[in-house]
Amino acid sequence: MAESSTSGNRFRTIVEPFRIHSVEPIDFATREQRQEALVRSRYNLFGLKAREVIIDLLTDSGTGALSTRQWAGMMQGDESYAGSRSYDRFRETVASITGFPEVIPTHQGRAAERILFSVKVRKGDVVPSNTHFDTTRANVEYQGAEARDLLIPEGRDTQSEHPFKGNMDVRALAKTIAEVGAQRIPLVMMTVTNNSGGGQPVSMANLREVRSMCDRYRIPLMLDACRFAENAWFIKQREPGYSAATPLDIAREMFALADGATMSAKKDGMSNIGGFLALVDPETAVAARNLLILTEGFTTYGGMAGYDLEAVAQGLWEALDEDYLRYRIRSTAYLAELAEAAGVPTVRPPGGHAVYLDASRLLPHIPASNYPAQVLACALYLEGGVRGVEIGSVMFGKPQPDGTEIPAAMELVRLALPRRTYTQSHIDYVGEVIGAVAAKADQLTGLRIVEQSIWLRHFTAGFAPLLEP
Ligand code: F0G
Repeated sequence: MAESSTSGNRFRTIVEPFRIHSVEPIDFATREQRQEALVRSRYNLFGLKAREVIIDLLTDSGTGALSTRQWAGMMQGDESYAGSRSYDRFRETVASITGFPEVIPTHQGRAAERILFSVKVRKGDVVPSNTHFDTTRANVEYQGAEARDLLIPEGRDTQSEHPFKGNMDVRALAKTIAEVGAQRIPLVMMTVTNNSGGGQPVSMANLREVRSMCDRYRIPLMLDACRFAENAWFIKQREPGYSAATPLDIAREMFALADGATMSAKKDGMSNIGGFLALVDPETAVAARNLLILTEGFTTYGGMAGYDLEAVAQGLWEALDEDYLRYRIRSTAYLAELAEAAGVPTVRPPGGHAVYLDASRLLPHIPASNYPAQVLACALYLEGGVRGVEIGSVMFGKPQPDGTEIPAAMELVRLALPRRTYTQSHIDYVGEVIGAVAAKADQLTGLRIVEQSIWLRHFTAGFAPLLEP
């Protein structure tokens, strides 16, 4: 890799800022086994068994390695049902980083979303966002409201090098408020970083502008903060005035612009499970805690074990470590460089947690209605046992009553990097697999859906090839 990993290091190679403390063997499924697994799972990579996968880039969510300090904290997990010491540590950490006094633990991010939207969102409302993640969108829609994405136009152009492609189009927000009326907008959501748009960051300037628009109409602003530390690192690198600030200072400034946050601690909480809803407003917090008790658990554990609370409390600090963030963001860029060197266009510039391969540009002969990104994801698995995830018309296409579909804006395959899990040689291998698939791109053919559900269909849909291989 072409940049030093630690400040003051004059060497080019990026050194992972950790030593491996325990290892987990990888099974090497053969090509025949992978072919059988694809047919069995009906070309849906969520249907694979993990042991059939060689390098698993399905998600960066809950898949990372824990640190020695996290394990040490977990040994001290306090499993008391109410008022545990581990909850105090969790609450103090979340409150210190976010500045939000009301800290409600949840088993993962979508539980925080469901509780927040159940309390705040009513049928017929509109919830604007830079881009809703799929669970956020589904939870808004489940309340009978509209989830509206208002990304800047550069964010939809895969080749734009705009430094903050996760920004919200503030003029579009103003138009939405004028059109639907502030009383039907219970909150505005900002996803940092913008996962569905390519893991792209949001600038502090944009957060400030959105905040002042929300202030003008008294609309609360919430962060979907899953990857807040990665977003802070991009601000430090790219936004004038922040190069000397620490990621923690930047994160605190981001949270200070919001009225609350939903968080999946499976990302920048550096943990395998967990999340929270954090709020300024005590009244909303009371209503949220009542719902929490109904479905998640008591207010001091919210569906997490005491040792999970400890892992997150430690992990949130580790996510803000500069050596870690430098390595993290540089490794993602390194994978993007390998993909591009292999002739596969990626979403530019590379995002924080993942590289997004542009399937519509690699496979121009496959129309959106035959799911080119799903085809590419399956080809990467068949070729080298690499599992990514489709972020295209399978995930975001809108089926119409006449059987046709409105396609997604982009057809991408996301290769998400679990935190502190794979080494540079694993990533070099992924680069070779991408190259092998690119070399036969013109031979790949489309898929059709043979079975699907109404909500979040990408998890369970079944596919069949248009032409049998
Ligand atoms: N918001 C964003 C931006 C996310 O990326 C995710 C999860 C969630 C909310 C929901 O959190 O999974 O803890 O309930 N993203 C994972 C992914 C699943 O693979 O990107 P959760």
